[in-house]
Amino acid sequence: MDGNASTESPGPAAPDRRPGRRGLDWNRATRFMAAEREDYVQRNPASAVLARQAAEHLLFGVPLHWMNDWGTPFALHVEHATGVDVVDVDSHTLVDFCLGDTGAMFGHAPPPVAAAVQHQAARGYTTMLATQDAAEVGRLLAGRFGLPYWQFALSATDANRYIVRWIRAATGRKKILVFNGCYHGTIEDVFVDLVEGQPVQRDSLLGQVHNLLEHTVVVEFNDLPALEAALANGDVACVLAEPVMTNIGMVLPEPGFWRAAQALIHRHGSLLVMDETHCISTGPGGHARAHGIDADAVVMGKPVAGGLPSAVYGMSAALADRAVQAKRQAPPGHSGIGTTLTGNMLAMAAMRAALSEVMTEAAYAHMLALAERLADGIRAVIARHQLPWCVTQVGARVEFQFCAEPPKNGTEADRVMDPELEHLIHLGLLNRGVLITPFHNMMLVSPVTTPEHVAQLLGSLDEVLAAIVARA
Ligand SMILES: Cc1ncc(COP(=O)(O)O)c(C=O)c1O
Repeated sequence: MDGNASTESPGPAAPDRRPGRRGLDWNRATRFMAAEREDYVQRNPASAVLARQAAEHLLFGVPLHWMNDWGTPFALHVEHATGVDVVDVDSHTLVDFCLGDTGAMFGHAPPPVAAAVQHQAARGYTTMLATQDAAEVGRLLAGRFGLPYWQFALSATDANRYIVRWIRAATGRKKILVFNGCYHGTIEDVFVDLVEGQPVQRDSLLGQVHNLLEHTVVVEFNDLPALEAALANGDVACVLAEPVMTNIGMVLPEPGFWRAAQALIHRHGSLLVMDETHCISTGPGGHARAHGIDADAVVMGKPVAGGLPSAVYGMSAALADRAVQAKRQAPPGHSGIGTTLTGNMLAMAAMRAALSEVMTEAAYAHMLALAERLADGIRAVIARHQLPWCVTQVGARVEFQFCAEPPKNGTEADRVMDPELEHLIHLGLLNRGVLITPFHNMMLVSPVTTPEHVAQLLGSLDEVLAAIVARA
């Protein structure tokens, strides 16, 4: 189905309209992109064959349609991934800074998780019953995030979906509030944007027949007056937010934003749900906790079981009380929350190992120090090429953005995104043995990333930028 393998010429040079292109020579960039595409095709014959075979029966030629969004001429196919090494089927070893965009934030197949999975593998996967790991995982989560009660899901998407359901049930309020440009997985409710100040349902959604505007309120991040106005009706069940926006590039909270926002949220009888799925990069208990914000509920997925499908959500004692009441008062029958394989034995074993042996203080100490070095190194590369770009760091998570000053909200962040330029940089890095996330310009530092890996990324980025900047 997918057009896939192609080395077609890129066509006429695009005009330099995007802010991030100031300082670039787009004619050079266009020639560079064509050469990199050709290079990719030459270097990856085994991936090309697999891509052609996959296209016979996989819709779009890949297991999930957006696996084509890497911007490569055809999908790269992986032979195996361990630590930060991704070995592709053409035997290139790539240094991975994408890390399954956070699922493998602590490295691929971390040994304690691999051992736990191996142990559990011959002892059953799913029984609809709790194992010995359940109570321990609950204890570990409570200690880490400071919330007493926990439940599970198979993805962070589902964890968000379920916590929103519990909170709507507990509060009797129907609306939720999100920040413009947010992403919390494919939970339907959040796909409402602000376009020229007006809430609009995201038009890229497929098959969405419900009017999301009815129950979702959207405001800009860092905009306290807008938040207060949106909460004032007293009909918002919860604010669902990342402590730092990470999915439209990164947008940091302004100093004092969350403390003031939390006060407003509570004043209007609403609850705060922190989605720490990405911001767990800050520290063992997530970003909010590290900054003194105790949310009413926390969601975390992706790396919580070392990258196996699993997610968690926790709640305060007060919210748990109301949730239990809601369940007790509801008629018997389906709650609409949960799936058959949720909390399965394999995931619980993996989670116990990840929480107790992988996501440790020592791991974070290494990640944070090295991420700092990476962020500084990228700033130096950008400065050397005199580009008007900035770098933002949230613990082990580092991102460069095509603007001189970090954006303050989703609208500003969206304005500076440039997928064509991103693809060019990502492909240039990939051909030089370095993977960064296919969406925007995000990099993660894992406990097994080394200074040499960081140096390789910096050297490769320097080379790519040297090939596309305007020559003096
Ligand atoms: C903040 C946040 N929450 C939730 C999700 C959903 O995670 P998953 O795709 O594993 O369901 C994502 C995915 O990128 C995310 O960035």
